[in-house]
This record gives sequence, C-alpha cells and structure tokens, in this order.
Amino acid sequence: MPSTLAWGIIFLAFVAMITANPAAAEPLSPSRANELERLVRQDCGSCHGMTLKGGLGPDIRAMALSGSDPETIAQIILDGVPGTPMPPWRPLMSEDDARWIANYLLKETDR
Ligand code: HEC
Repeated sequence: MPSTLAWGIIFLAFVAMITANPAAAEPLSPSRANELERLVRQDCGSCHGMTLKGGLGPDIRAMALSGSDPETIAQIILDGVPGTPMPPWRPLMSEDDARWIANYLLKETDR
C-alpha cells in the first residue's frame, strides 16, 4: 500500500504531465486536426483541386502561398473572398481552426 507521500508524488507527476503537454502550443485536439485535414482535402479540394494545386480556385499549396502570412490566410478562410466563389467558412469553424488550416497549407502541402 503506497504511502501518502507516494500518492503525492504521483499526483505532482500527473499535474506536471498535464501542464507540460505540448498540445498547449497547438490548441486543437488530434481528432479535430484530422477532421480539418479531411475538410481541406475534400471540401476545399472540390474547388482548389484534390491535390490543392488549383481548379476553380487557385493553387493553395505552400509553394503558391509562401508570400502570405498565416493570419491573412486564416482571414480569407473565415471570410471568403467577396465577389468570387470562395465562400466564408466562419459558420463552420473557429478562428483557431482557420489558423490551423492556414499553417497546414503553409507547411504540409508541398507533397
Ligand atoms: C466554391 C469553391 C471554393 C471552395 C469550396 C473553397 N475555395 Fe478557396 N478560393 C476559391 C476561389 C475562386 C478563390 C480565388 C478568389 C479570388 O479570385 O481572389 C479562392 C481563394 C482562396 C485562397 C486565397 C489564395 C490566394 O492565392 O490568394 C485561399 C487561401 C483559399 N481559397 C483557401 C480555401 C480553403 C482553406 C478552403 C476550404 C476550407 C477553400 N478555399 C474552399 C474557391 C473556393
């Protein structure tokens, strides 16, 4: 039977594990990130092409977006581009989601 001290140490280790969680820097849960990745490939892909290299909408792979900062891209995703088919996604996602997608486009799409 562990002593109270041992339980205390286990408790502190548990707290340290939670507070040191690297997910703190990346606010989305892995399951939400998976959903967003699917959304990008399917929904965004329906206009931007399955491989995102352009279709009705322009190429949105990292190469094509490299001049843009993530915040600008996130705003385009949230509000769309008025007067063009690019729709606003704000009703379907949070600002954190849009930022995640912007970073995803900038980092993960040169494949
Ligand atoms: C209904 C078609 C359609 C869908 C769906 C769509 N887009 Fe677009 N998107 C466009 C069009 C068209 C443009 C070009 C707008 C313009 O002329 O400036 C565009 C522009 C963009 C741009 C700016 C590109 C640049 O070089 O300035 C980004 C980023 C973008 N879309 C991301 C997304 C993401 C992410 C999704 C999915 C969440 C998405 N789009 C879904 C049609 C679409």
